[in-house]
Amino acid sequence: MSDPAFRFDLAATCGAARTGTIHTPRGPIRTPAFMPVGTAATVKAMLPESVAATGADILLGNTYHLMLRPTAERVAALGGLHRFMNWSGPILTDSGGFQVMSLTGLRKMTEEGVRFASHIDGSRHMLSPERSMEIQRLLGSDIVMAFDECTPYPATREQAQASMELSMRWARRSRDAFGDRPGHALFGIMQGSTFPDLRAQSAETLREIGFDGYAIGGLAVGEGQAAMFEVLDYAPGLLPADRPRYLMGVGKPDDIVGAVQRGVDMMDCVLPSRSGRTGQAFTRHGVVNIKNARHAEDPRPLDEACTCPACRGYSRAYLHHVFRAGEIISSMLLTWHNLHYYQELMAGLRGAIAAGTLDSFVADFHAMRAPGDI
Ligand code: GUN
Ligand code: ZN
Repeated sequence: MSDPAFRFDLAATCGAARTGTIHTPRGPIRTPAFMPVGTAATVKAMLPESVAATGADILLGNTYHLMLRPTAERVAALGGLHRFMNWSGPILTDSGGFQVMSLTGLRKMTEEGVRFASHIDGSRHMLSPERSMEIQRLLGSDIVMAFDECTPYPATREQAQASMELSMRWARRSRDAFGDRPGHALFGIMQGSTFPDLRAQSAETLREIGFDGYAIGGLAVGEGQAAMFEVLDYAPGLLPADRPRYLMGVGKPDDIVGAVQRGVDMMDCVLPSRSGRTGQAFTRHGVVNIKNARHAEDPRPLDEACTCPACRGYSRAYLHHVFRAGEIISSMLLTWHNLHYYQELMAGLRGAIAAGTLDSFVADFHAMRAPGDI
């Protein structure tokens, strides 16, 4: 990156996979990195220091939610998002378009941007590349995402092309509106659905505009893992090798492993935190549904090898009980375990890439997993 305060150092590669460090003024981000989602200025059920203890270097926040409540202006008046939510590490913010389209019923998209009604109180708002850049600046985001449209799936070639071209015009406007902000990075977002030539055109346009990092958008929108991996077989290679590559909204543990094998450096997903609140735990052996009656008298931890507080201190029987009883500690413990599991997976991937043993790491990862509930 041209800004020395914000630098990506590649340490090793293994096939298409990479490991390294993104240096930011708020601390290093070890890659491949998984970013827990803190949509509303909190990773639900977790204290920020607990999120850090799981091994997370960076959190994701959302323009859309924070502009509606408590508003970006209020966060700015209170010293910015880091101070507001008591997280001193780096924060990446998504630009809002994806959330507008998935959360609001009433909306109107034009060349200018999107007009929409709040999912909270129905109040009317507008997001455009310029407004999104302003909100992300007010929040104090370290990694700002360009304003884009996440092309719905499935899309015809014509729909995917028109949507991608709109996102590229918005990417240029995002770049212009972002300006020069030392210590802060702006990432462009590639679109193009499942069409290789549209993905290539999108990548070419983004490279011309020039960004500090590049995201792959429009995936994990219902196409399935095989179709997603097909895109990831070529999409990361269309992006500059010396900048971070961020796959947005992914995913399940095996999606993450496959994405890293294909050259992705950063990911985010609500899955570990949301599943923690709905009674699903991710383990090396697969998914545990803690509400299942088979756990009611089980004295074993979720995972004998896990060193998280939920596994060191509590049985499956206890976790089953507090989930069934609707106790708050259920969300706290399962979320902690899931985030810990995800960060251990990322640490394992980073270590294997550095050691040149990614293939055997991935083989072990798959061999240990049982199909279905365990
Ligand atoms: N989150 C998941 N996919 C996308 C995408 O394509 N664009 C944006 N802005 N956010 C996303
Ligand atoms: Zn655990």
